[in-house]
Amino acid sequence: MKVTIDGIEIDVPKGTTILQAARMIGPKVAPPAMCYYTKLKTSGGYCRTCIVKVTKGSTANPTPMPKPVASCRTEVMDGMEVQNFTSPDLLEARKGVVEFLLINHPLDCPVCDQAGECHLQDLGYNNGSVKTRYEFKRREFDMIDIGKYIKLHMTRCIMCFRCVKVADQITNNRVHGVMHRGDAAEISTYIENVIENDFSGNVIDVCPVGALTDKTFRFKQRVWFTKPVEAHRKCDKCSGKVRLWFKGEDVLRVTARKDQWGEAEDFICNDCRFEHKRKSDWVIEGPSPISHHSVISQNQYEHLNEKEVEILKHQKALGFMNYDKRP
Ligand code: SF4
Ligand code: FES
Repeated sequence: MKVTIDGIEIDVPKGTTILQAARMIGPKVAPPAMCYYTKLKTSGGYCRTCIVKVTKGSTANPTPMPKPVASCRTEVMDGMEVQNFTSPDLLEARKGVVEFLLINHPLDCPVCDQAGECHLQDLGYNNGSVKTRYEFKRREFDMIDIGKYIKLHMTRCIMCFRCVKVADQITNNRVHGVMHRGDAAEISTYIENVIENDFSGNVIDVCPVGALTDKTFRFKQRVWFTKPVEAHRKCDKCSGKVRLWFKGEDVLRVTARKDQWGEAEDFICNDCRFEHKRKSDWVIEGPSPISHHSVISQNQYEHLNEKEVEILKHQKALGFMNYDKRP
């Protein structure tokens, strides 16, 4: 099936979603995704950050779709034409989505462990507006201790459901979920019980914000001062392939290896994640590949500006001259 995204055509198998097709082309056209997670079944469809504009439905029925669609949940049709970064209207709509996601999110990046690898931070910087129009009181919650390894800051949660899917699909013992609706929705307090499982630590890796944090790493170091290294050990519960985060000779934390979309390559067990913090526990493979856009490779926001310039050039090449005049 042929689909054209931001003027770039690609052939994809039937059943591919627009988001997957865009990722096949590359970051230049791939929309951001806060709730979709390749390895978690039925993820996606909650956050709306991945919206795109379908300007031509298909060769058989060229009618444009009347409103933006969630690209992670919409399958490609043959001959479909899609706009993402090349549509000023769409970018304006996404700004609105970001504003909604940030309505209740505290501005505590300076003390949040996720800062520097937070998808919401990047989303806000790349697609958001500098101001909020929200004047009401933000939601407040007490922090919840989830056993000795994990802490939940419900105030930072954006209701992406990824942790619920992890508990459902990776552990065999889901005892938490989203309770209530609308702005009363919250991750249920039964989340404490999820610790009974060997794979519960993966909720930290999939959480796109700083809502679920690793208590063994909390407040130890800003991530951009640590050095990520690929390592492995023999483990009978998981693949044992991890990323170690060093400060000097000390391993400050252990996480799953992430791919270019920030998703775990392999889910790892709690033993590897929390109980092996000595360098000698691991066979070191070498430095982790870190995108030069990442703050971990320093000065991320300058690089993001470069990325924006690249997108603008791409848009101009396609004839979208008005884009850089947007407010
Ligand atoms: S705690 Fe994190 S992973 Fe779970 S729903 Fe909230 S933002 Fe998503
Ligand atoms: S990534 Fe598509 S709706 Fe969240």
